Amino acid sequence: MARDFKDKVIVLGVTGSVAAYKACELASRLVEAGAEVIPVLTSGGREFVGAASLEGITGQRAITDMFEPAQNPEIEHIALARRADLFLIAPASANVIAKSAHGLADDWLSTTLLATRAPVLYAPAMNTKMYQHPATQDNIALLKRRGCHFVGPGSGALACGEFGPGRLIDTPAILEAASIALRNDHSLEGKHVLLTSGANHEPIDPVRFIGNRSSGKMGYAIALEALKRGAQVTVITGPCDVAPPFGVTIIQADTAVTMLDAVTDLLPSADIFVAAAAVADYRIENPPTKKQKRDDQPLRLELTPNPDIAAHVGLTRAAHQIAVGFAAETHDFLEHAQRKLQEKQLDLIVANDVSGADSGFGTETSRAWFLTPDEEAEVLPLLAKSELAERLFTRILALPRAAAVCDG
Ligand SMILES: Cc1cc2nc3c(=O)[nH]c(=O)nc-3n(C[C@H](O)[C@H](O)[C@H](O)COP(=O)(O)O)c2cc1C
Repeated sequence: MARDFKDKVIVLGVTGSVAAYKACELASRLVEAGAEVIPVLTSGGREFVGAASLEGITGQRAITDMFEPAQNPEIEHIALARRADLFLIAPASANVIAKSAHGLADDWLSTTLLATRAPVLYAPAMNTKMYQHPATQDNIALLKRRGCHFVGPGSGALACGEFGPGRLIDTPAILEAASIALRNDHSLEGKHVLLTSGANHEPIDPVRFIGNRSSGKMGYAIALEALKRGAQVTVITGPCDVAPPFGVTIIQADTAVTMLDAVTDLLPSADIFVAAAAVADYRIENPPTKKQKRDDQPLRLELTPNPDIAAHVGLTRAAHQIAVGFAAETHDFLEHAQRKLQEKQLDLIVANDVSGADSGFGTETSRAWFLTPDEEAEVLPLLAKSELAERLFTRILALPRAAAVCDG
């Protein structure tokens, strides 16, 4: 995600909420990722966090007053309204949301929000009753209709002692939403991307399982890329180290059979299916319900082949649906992937090398090839998984079948 923020100008509006201190961590993560972050504190925000903290973290002078002598020419609101790539209001008070919805311009932030045409992302934080109040809900709905982005709030125990929605959502979720807002890509708007991700754990008994090394990192990258392109995304995930992005619907399915059940249920509503999970090839048909005792004799397990989920989708999907698979290989990559592409009747297969220290399960990068039924295999350089996901959707949208998916 870091490359999404490189050299981007992000105006970080911090308003009067107890969660304002969390803006410091957010600013720090954005700066680390290469963004130029201009902090803006409303009068409410100044009660909760000091300008010096945000200035120290961002290396930029904080904007706190509309009429302060212009030591920094950027304080002139129009200049920054034009130069910003993103306005991120985190935490966003009920007040700033209401003012934005109704076009009030009584301080620097609300004035500049009217002047900018950059994407605007609000991360609301407030008492549950304030959040649920019809006035706040109507204001949020109005801003969404105008194209503003929202992330959160999270639910849980609030500083005011209540329990419910109103917590500032966690920093990783805000960063994901910021990367989506910055991209401003609508190439999959209105489309449903269904994805499997992660590993499978096939039980041997109630405490042991057969598993594999899939981390879920590739699935995470594919899901986030689909979100950035405006898709509705459902991730059917097995156990993994990296949870899917916040903006997706998550369905947990730990075994190949439960994963197939979930895919079968959801496939009719999908436009694009991507099989990125490392589905277990075998399972124990009826694992014992009690823990098996150890003894000194060899243990023999009888393994039954699991259903092939990608093949099931490839062979049963409707004509307008796109089916994409992954072939994790350690050798003869193209030969194995070509066979899978044909047997499973897929539109595209990503052959990936899972044998290297820099490519495979758990790595940040991947070495891959795109294979389609009609064209020469496309050889890709070693890529960050996020870049591979970006190229994958560009390739999917160039498939002959994509015309039907994206026009319909
Ligand atoms: C201790 C305290 C905590 C507050 N927390 C919040 C909050 O989390 N969210 C919110 O919308 N307002 C909160 N408020 C009220 C706002 O600070 C108040 O509405 C203020 O006018 C917001 O101004 P601003 O939007 O310009 O920052 C809190 C007030 C106090 C005194």
